[in-house]
Amino acid sequence: MNLPKILEAKERTSKRVAILYDDYNNEGLSNFGRGKKYLILTYGCQMNEHDSEYISGIMEDIGYQKTDDMDDANVIIVNTCAIRENAHNKAEGMLGRIKHLKETKSDIIVIFCGCMAQEEKLVNKVKDYKWIDIICGTHNYHKIPEYLMERLNSDRVCEVYSIEGNVIENIPVKRDSKYTAWVNIQYGCDKFCTYCIVPYTRGKQRSRKSEDIVLEVRELYNNGYQEVTLLGQNVNAYGKDFDNGYDFADLLGEVSQTGIPRIRFVTSHPWDFTDKMIEVISKCDNIMPYIHLPIQSGSDRILKLMGRKYTTEEYLEIVRKLREKIPNVSITTDIIVGFPGESNEDFEKTLDVVNKVKYDLAYTFIFSPREGTPASKMEDTTSLEEKKERLAKLNELINKYAFEANKKMENKVYNVLILGKSDKDNKYMGYTENMKLVNVSCSEEYVGKIIPVKITGVKTWSLDGEVNE
Ligand code: 5AD
Ligand code: SF4
Repeated sequence: MNLPKILEAKERTSKRVAILYDDYNNEGLSNFGRGKKYLILTYGCQMNEHDSEYISGIMEDIGYQKTDDMDDANVIIVNTCAIRENAHNKAEGMLGRIKHLKETKSDIIVIFCGCMAQEEKLVNKVKDYKWIDIICGTHNYHKIPEYLMERLNSDRVCEVYSIEGNVIENIPVKRDSKYTAWVNIQYGCDKFCTYCIVPYTRGKQRSRKSEDIVLEVRELYNNGYQEVTLLGQNVNAYGKDFDNGYDFADLLGEVSQTGIPRIRFVTSHPWDFTDKMIEVISKCDNIMPYIHLPIQSGSDRILKLMGRKYTTEEYLEIVRKLREKIPNVSITTDIIVGFPGESNEDFEKTLDVVNKVKYDLAYTFIFSPREGTPASKMEDTTSLEEKKERLAKLNELINKYAFEANKKMENKVYNVLILGKSDKDNKYMGYTENMKLVNVSCSEEYVGKIIPVKITGVKTWSLDGEVNE
């Protein structure tokens, strides 16, 4: 049994990480799951969604088939998120349901993995839930075949590493979409913003080799993919762990050369956002005009307490350059309200910045103390009531600007990549280059294609459109 340790997870050394091309191993197990089914439940961010695509790839590589029906599953995998308390609560609620199911179907194998499995306090708690068969963390989910094997001869397997992490290549992947794909370019984070659990759950910031990334994108393009999203906690810090000066702007340039029609990337940090990056984005037509640039707070005092290492003025300067160089650019952000010590005046400064930037969209959160992070120990005197009021006020402003940004697109024509059926009355849904969701009146034949769409209706969260013949 290997349990997580928060103090070890925090350590950073200058040791180069290993890039492992043959660490995934299913030797002798390719028929292990034949005739059996797995169900995977995913909580959290795109990184987790993409990890689940790898876990699905692994399960199918050893013979299992996917199911969405819990009663039909022989293996249930819960891929958890630790970023805020409500992500925890959702996963814990699901664990309750699975426990219940296991009382009547004792032969189901339950795998608990993801970011919550990297948390010391949490694993100390769930390790006593005897009905969880396998616990593994973010650094070793590629070992699931071995753990399933081991489980045959033991009551349970619990293996979580609190390490800086490696780069593991050649894990099989089963992607959810045939048209858009996530591509990891970098794992982990070294920024240690004081509220954030990510550097503890995902290890040190480490980049994949550009050759491996470009190869993956090229293969996706050859297989008909229209869009890739380059994924990392801080994509613009890509390459900082190499010693050859190769950076994210260089990578973007190379990925652009593959010719894939659409390239996106998340998440950018204002700290490492270079002019060179803006230049490359503005020059390459297949790099989409959409930037997610988390500000977190509009108060320099709070930004300092958060350890964000930029001022609002520096942030606004990046926004100014983006808007100057990239026509039609959409800018979205993340904002935390109620960080410990945030006064009404600090909060008003956040509203000021929102009024200046006029975001296309923002993801807003109430501060959630995460065990082991510095902010969880900071004095916090603002009541939850007050925080909720601030959040409501902020959301109102965000929605106003989201609608205004959408309104500007009315009656104009945009290229939309149609992804599939929409929930809305017989329409198909897709995204514009600047990442606006559009429900389009069109037929099945357009799925997977980029087509010109005229915007006919505008809402806060989406647009309506029809094919512009
Ligand atoms: N409390 C509230 N929001 C948080 N985020 C990260 N950690 C916390 C926390 N402890 C938000 C940040 C980040 C987004 C992914 O989640 O805004 O950008
Ligand atoms: Fe968390 Fe900050 Fe790293 Fe983002 S940059 S993952 S908010 S520590």
